[in-house]
Amino acid sequence: MRKPVLIANWKMNKTITEGRSFVDEINCLIKDIRKGDFSNRLEVIIAPSFTALSSLAYIIDEIEIGLAAQNMHWEDKGAYTGEISPQFLEEIGCGHVIIGHSERRHIFKENSDIINKKIIAALRHKISPVFCVGERLEERESGKTFKVIEKELTEGLKGISKEDINNIMIAYEPVWAIGTGKNATPRQANEVHLFIRKKIGSDFGTNVASSIRILYGGSVTPDNIEELIAEDEIDGALIGGASLKAESFAEIIRCVFEKRSA
Ligand code: PGA
Repeated sequence: MRKPVLIANWKMNKTITEGRSFVDEINCLIKDIRKGDFSNRLEVIIAPSFTALSSLAYIIDEIEIGLAAQNMHWEDKGAYTGEISPQFLEEIGCGHVIIGHSERRHIFKENSDIINKKIIAALRHKISPVFCVGERLEERESGKTFKVIEKELTEGLKGISKEDINNIMIAYEPVWAIGTGKNATPRQANEVHLFIRKKIGSDFGTNVASSIRILYGGSVTPDNIEELIAEDEIDGALIGGASLKAESFAEIIRCVFEKRSA
């Protein structure tokens, strides 16, 4: 049984003060469900800005929420002005890092080679990568979705060992669904998730394929989470816009918690 996971990707939003009030609010809103064996049944992670990471690290750990960075460099140190080393993340106890998000790929021109180096560096530092893949609208419309996903997986996971793959989560985020309010239907998402799981199975073995967690991302809201999480291959969600308000993120958490424990 794969433990469901919900990741709040705040992108370039929320100051430290705003992040702290969000954590206080979310703590109040989910207090009742946190009483039981919450963290055994559901993993919740927040990816705030770099400047907020260390201030939030302690307070979110206290309420059993994990911490993710939204990006990092692949080298440990050196002349890379403005970059964040995996060592810096390790030092503050940051357990996860989002790698290959479509905004990094398309706005900041990160290619598969860079993404692969980042995944390898994160694993070396025991930081679990959340590796994002997804097709653009024109690729979906021209029937290239599986080709694109296959290529991104092959290139991004090049040289990763069978042991290390267990420490990776994959997020399927169709580019056309990110921040657009137009989510993939549960059937569309499930179909790609199944494709990803089969590809992982043929590259790394069926044991890994059945345990790796594959998240869906792209306009996830309290209104569509129930039908998305009902799909067999969807193990959780990477949430942008709807994770910025404590009420809507709490609704999503509550829904997944109740659905999975039912
Ligand atoms: P969205 O963003 O939920 O606002 O579509 C998702 C993401 O970019 O991870």
